[in-house]
Amino acid sequence: MATILAIETSCDETAVAIVRDRQIFSNIVASQIEIHREYGGVVPEVASRHHLETINFCIDAAFKESQLHWSNIDAIAATCAPGLVGALLVGMTAAKTLAVVRHLPFLGIHHLEGHIYAAYLSEPKLQPPFLCLLVSGGHTSLIRVTDGGIYEQLGATRDDAAGEAFDKVARLLGLGYPGGPAIDRLAKQGNPRAFALPEGRVSKPEGGYHPYDSSFSGLKTAMLRLVQKLEKQNEELPIADLAASFQETVARSLVKKTLACALDYRLPTIVTGGGVAANSALRRYLQEAADRHNLKVYCPPLKLCTDNAAAIACAAAERFNRGETSPLTLGARSRMAITQVGELYHSSLTTHPSPVTHHHSPVYKPS
Ligand code: KG4
Ligand code: ZN
Repeated sequence: MATILAIETSCDETAVAIVRDRQIFSNIVASQIEIHREYGGVVPEVASRHHLETINFCIDAAFKESQLHWSNIDAIAATCAPGLVGALLVGMTAAKTLAVVRHLPFLGIHHLEGHIYAAYLSEPKLQPPFLCLLVSGGHTSLIRVTDGGIYEQLGATRDDAAGEAFDKVARLLGLGYPGGPAIDRLAKQGNPRAFALPEGRVSKPEGGYHPYDSSFSGLKTAMLRLVQKLEKQNEELPIADLAASFQETVARSLVKKTLACALDYRLPTIVTGGGVAANSALRRYLQEAADRHNLKVYCPPLKLCTDNAAAIACAAAERFNRGETSPLTLGARSRMAITQVGELYHSSLTTHPSPVTHHHSPVYKPS
């Protein structure tokens, strides 16, 4: 059993959590949405500054809510990639400093691994193999998880991420930032079949379409043209119908690809992760499709789908239990494929033949 204090600051949420394996003791999320709303998106420098101002309060709040103390903590984790580098650095520096001062091991965690681990928090008995549909503001991937920490990307977007498409279309419809929740809310009052929109298929060089890859740029352009056409006709924009039709197209397309992938690879379980996994149409259609094929679907609750540190802590707990830690020299990276995640760790349990190999995280011990 490992009790982890984790920090997540990769984008616009300052988040701190304390988790023991798959049990949440506290999960603090200080959102900056209101601050970035006036700019219509996340301003990196503003995000870093606010992380800096908020992080210590969040750490205090996480301890208070958990009713635990430093003596209960086994290791400290922070998201190290991918994300806004300035923002990541705030969380990583706080985590490394605490690791040094408290003589605790440090682990850097891949942000997407955190999104995958949200499913373990809501479904503690979940075991690989499973397929994860990971749909966030920066990523749209189908990832096969065959064992703890082993990932294979089977599908991805060729252009915009699903969340990015939601955010851009919401801006086009004048719905503000962040776009996903606004479109989801408004779509409930609209007709999802009001407008036929292109699903965005990815052609293969040898002919046919890639079964698991997505593309949202054509859909985004189709929405722009449609809005321009309606405006030219001096029609009042049927915003709810536009939102519902757009959401329907994205949700149906993601569900089709996810289902094909799960069936082709004989994966009996699908889990979802990332902010777009909070989308009500996506959740409903995925559940319906899975029921038709006797597959299990686990969609974590909304608070665990969007950015949070509890999921980061959960991923770190499993790695720490396997004897893995990260060096304090680990840097923040704006980009990093989840398949490279092994690069972030030393293992204290494997025996390396080379005498120069570090077996442990270089935890600072005052002399
Ligand atoms: O995972 P996340 O919190 O941050 C990233 O790592 O990107 O995802 C944020 C994204 C935003 O693009 C937001 O518009 C989208 O998730 N989102 C939604 C919903 N809630 C958040 N998209 C569709 N429907 C929602 N209900
Ligand atoms: Zn995220």
